[in-house]
Amino acid sequence: MLIMRNVVLIGFMGTGKSRVGRLLASRLKRPYIDTDKKIEKGCGIPIPEIFQKYGESFFRTKEAAVIARVSRYTHSVISTGGGVVLSPENMSRLRSNSVLITLTASPQTILERTGRRNNRPLINHPDREQLIKKMLSERELLYGASDLTIDTTNYTPHQVVDIIVTFLREGGFLRG
Ligand code: S3P
Repeated sequence: MLIMRNVVLIGFMGTGKSRVGRLLASRLKRPYIDTDKKIEKGCGIPIPEIFQKYGESFFRTKEAAVIARVSRYTHSVISTGGGVVLSPENMSRLRSNSVLITLTASPQTILERTGRRNNRPLINHPDREQLIKKMLSERELLYGASDLTIDTTNYTPHQVVDIIVTFLREGGFLRG
């Protein structure tokens, strides 16, 4: 049923998925799920430590297992990690019962937002700016395959939520 679909946020690191997801869930009065938090909880350690101790492919395996689990949920708002799009299987699972929304931002904004905390092992690099640009261009097509894309560069999280709610309402994904 249309109104039971999840709303899934995808996008590069620092585009606001967690902040917007939390606000959106509270606005829609729906459960909120953050897949990175679920992975951390399952492993008992934070993401940088997962990468450091066990490597990226271990993290991706855990991520796929969490995606398989949460894609059986309904009526939830789900924020994903930026690399969830790298797996076609993750995406087909999420797509099956969700509205997919991509958040983007300019490389400069991503650089600034992700610089506030040192919790992104994949861009923990002396030339973060170059790396961010390279990864953005490698993933651009993958992020493009969604139902709606919002550039969050010049918006507050509340404004992004407003745009999403309008889109969901106009698409018949919400009651009222
Ligand atoms: C990753 C993004 C991170 C986290 C992990 C890998 C990525 O999530 O899943 O560090 O590959 O882009 P955020 O997008 O929430 O930072």
